[in-house]
Amino acid sequence: MSKANKHQPIGVFDSGIGGLTVANAISKQLPKEEIIYFGDTAHLPYGDKSADAIRFYCLKIVKFLLEKNCKMIVIACNSASTAADQVIFDFFKGQAIFVNVVDPLVEAIAERDYKKVGVIATKATIRSDVYRTKLADKKPKLKVASMATPLLVPMIEEGYFNDNISETIISNYLSDKQFKSIEALLLACTHYPLIRSHIESFFDGKVDVFDSTDVVVKSVKAKLKAAKLLNTKRVNPHQFYVSDFTKSFEETTRLFYTEQIKLEHCPIW
Ligand code: DGL
Repeated sequence: MSKANKHQPIGVFDSGIGGLTVANAISKQLPKEEIIYFGDTAHLPYGDKSADAIRFYCLKIVKFLLEKNCKMIVIACNSASTAADQVIFDFFKGQAIFVNVVDPLVEAIAERDYKKVGVIATKATIRSDVYRTKLADKKPKLKVASMATPLLVPMIEEGYFNDNISETIISNYLSDKQFKSIEALLLACTHYPLIRSHIESFFDGKVDVFDSTDVVVKSVKAKLKAAKLLNTKRVNPHQFYVSDFTKSFEETTRLFYTEQIKLEHCPIW
């Protein structure tokens, strides 16, 4: 990292377009930073894949983003953060600053005094038990109820939120008795910020809801600042790459990113 300078871009990647919620938060809160986004649309969803397959995809994507000269790589996908964070760090140590989406959420919970929290995420993230394990390290007495909610990603991508269909699916999952008496719920998937307000109203505002947007930006900013790599002026526009292109992917980006995006097809496999 010796030759890193503050004008280099931040690489952000996800299995597809859900990670755009994180890219969007970075671009709004750190507008001087340049973003290079990569969505692995050829292999989504990661949430149903094995950890080995996810690791294989992630290593290739990180190599691509490092070749684009990124000073920092944000793994904007819980399934990828869970399966591949360590292997990415071991492989590319010293070549960029790495940020996953799990640790900032864990830190946010650990700063508070909850007795019981819930976690919802893809099958891959829940299977890894990463939230329970990391939270147990910091808060041994905290009870963690976790559940895979695999219908939520396709539901959101098809544009079903704030309607009867999403209402039925969300209440079906969240009415599960293991979530009784939770004080906070972690939305541990980068698609879920889109249904955050729906979830807050399901709990009547009585449960604190955390997602991986603001907490991740906070971590990005702190790490860049510590390394003296916060940008002071953005020169280039953001770039958005996908490993497989369809018009429907491009249309769906509107749900996740506030400005209109032009996706570039970049088949790295
Ligand atoms: N964005 C992914 C995550 O945060 C979910 C989508 C997928 O399964 O690929 O886990």
